Amino acid sequence: MTTRTTTSAAALSPLHRPGPDAEWWRTAVIYQVYPRSFADADGDGTGDLPGITARLPHLAALGVDAIWLSPFYRSPQADAGYDVADYRDVDPLFGTLDDADHLVREAHALGLRVIIDLVPNHTSDQHAWFRAALDAGPGSPERARYLFREGLGEHGEEPPNNWSSIFGGNAWTRVRDRADAPGSTWADDGQWYLHLFDSAQPDLNWDNPEVHAEFESVLRFWLDRGVDGFRVDVAHGLVKAAGLPDWSGHVRMVDGETEPADGDGAGGAADDAPSDGPAGTGAAADPTAAADPTAADDPAPGANRGPMFDQEGVHDIYRRWHEVLAEYDGDRALVAEAWVDPLSRLARYVRPDEMHQAFNFAFLVTPWDAARLRACVAESYAAYDAVGAPTTWVLSNHDVVRHASRLGLAETGKGPNGIGAEDTQPDAALGLRRARAASTLMLALPGSAYLYQGEELGLPEHTALDDDLRQDPAWPRTGFTEKGRDGCRVPLPWSADEPAYGFSPTGRSWLPQPADWAPYAVDAQTGVAGSTLELYREALRLRAELGLGASAVRWAEGWAESPDVVAFVSSAADRADVLVVTAVGDTTVTLPEGHEVLLASGPLEARDGGTVLPADTTVWLRRG
Ligand code: NOJ
Repeated sequence: MTTRTTTSAAALSPLHRPGPDAEWWRTAVIYQVYPRSFADADGDGTGDLPGITARLPHLAALGVDAIWLSPFYRSPQADAGYDVADYRDVDPLFGTLDDADHLVREAHALGLRVIIDLVPNHTSDQHAWFRAALDAGPGSPERARYLFREGLGEHGEEPPNNWSSIFGGNAWTRVRDRADAPGSTWADDGQWYLHLFDSAQPDLNWDNPEVHAEFESVLRFWLDRGVDGFRVDVAHGLVKAAGLPDWSGHVRMVDGETEPADGDGAGGAADDAPSDGPAGTGAAADPTAAADPTAADDPAPGANRGPMFDQEGVHDIYRRWHEVLAEYDGDRALVAEAWVDPLSRLARYVRPDEMHQAFNFAFLVTPWDAARLRACVAESYAAYDAVGAPTTWVLSNHDVVRHASRLGLAETGKGPNGIGAEDTQPDAALGLRRARAASTLMLALPGSAYLYQGEELGLPEHTALDDDLRQDPAWPRTGFTEKGRDGCRVPLPWSADEPAYGFSPTGRSWLPQPADWAPYAVDAQTGVAGSTLELYREALRLRAELGLGASAVRWAEGWAESPDVVAFVSSAADRADVLVVTAVGDTTVTLPEGHEVLLASGPLEARDGGTVLPADTTVWLRRG
């Protein structure tokens, strides 16, 4: 047991403190809505924009400042909408442009800002540009919008370089250019195009001014409709190193972890990469060429510095976009989804004339360990303070195992790429306890915090999905070795006693919800003392009331190097200090006397006339 009774100044990194007139995004709590799984109004089993609009009061009551919507554009849904066929229209699956306008108006009326997803690294293979590129053939201006290259080998049968797709398999797919030529076959036919993700997601060529002009126009299209900003997908990937040089590393989603390829096929399962090309494009099968382990490059683990990522040229793009947004009123914002490390390098994306925020994935992947958490918090402030930007905090999103399950695994941290029924199952109770503690810690930290839909319900990952129902392209592309991301994308439970837990009026649900989700439903938690939903509501109410998002913080003396406690003091000029203490691990903590308990992520214990913080619990205390 750890006992501490005093706290005083112990320096945390200097903090860039936003003043009262600071832009909203510096301190905002932003809630990620994953449209297909939030709420379904038309009953087809897939969530939609009218469903979201109808449920906006839930988010206003929760107390968030803004929502971020994952893609709802026209798309064949090869990667759940991150394969965009038309950036200026809404997919009929989700509704209409009018529905989008209505959603933005209603959100604004409730005081919620709206950020939408922008996917500029790649389009869908069904985008008009890509269709035209296939038709136009090699050397055409249409092809120059994408990264088409001739193959290597005598007949061009080898991919142009050794890059692997982030979803597994090869990053190149060959198209059929000379189908009518005598002797032409699928195997030795046309050019190859690059796709860092699925073969249905061809990468755009950001060396082409036409691509720049198109995306500026797309930005304006949505800014004119009133959106408050953009979450920029794969923000570090748009520009590739000149010549597309070989690189035998393999970058994984979210964590930026780089693994040297092992020669068994990029991503470890290239032999099972999809055998069909993009539907109807005349594209040939993905090849299965192994990454060359002898290539003259250095895929240093953890460096995430492959020639496809974090190239200097991306910053020019964001400087230009910054100018575009600045033409509009209301502090519109750009947030980078960039798997770049270290944090000091990621911070370059949020220099004063570039983007406004970047997701702090370093925090998401930090193991449940006091020293590691402290180090991440301190490094985050140091890195972002250096460029005058707020740090963000994020624990879950649609690409990772939900933190209520991740933190219930023996090994915490980034977690596996999906969990299946035959895998070791998380300890649900431990995971939820830690998740509540982690979220309560996060929401006390200055900066901007991102919530992923359902985390306010303590929702766990679906860890027993039927494999036949999985839709993440990473599942087949990894040769069915990585379960993928469907488990965190299961439709939300709204009502304990209704079919599909009230997700849709017909009871349909594009992925089945676990049979034991009734206690997680919104109506089962509303007004229930101690529920996760009420914990989040109270945390957000107090965060706003106490101005925690804009406060200065320092480590609490006595705990600054504790192996099992993270504790910091939040100060603001016009109020008493708030002491935030998280017991990380198996220890309990005797809390200092003379403090009022403002919020606790779990029950506290009375012992020997004092108050004890149990393990895996966070408390907010106000100094008396
Ligand atoms: C990151 C998105 O979050 C993920 O869901 C998507 O699959 C990739 N980018 C590709 O767009």
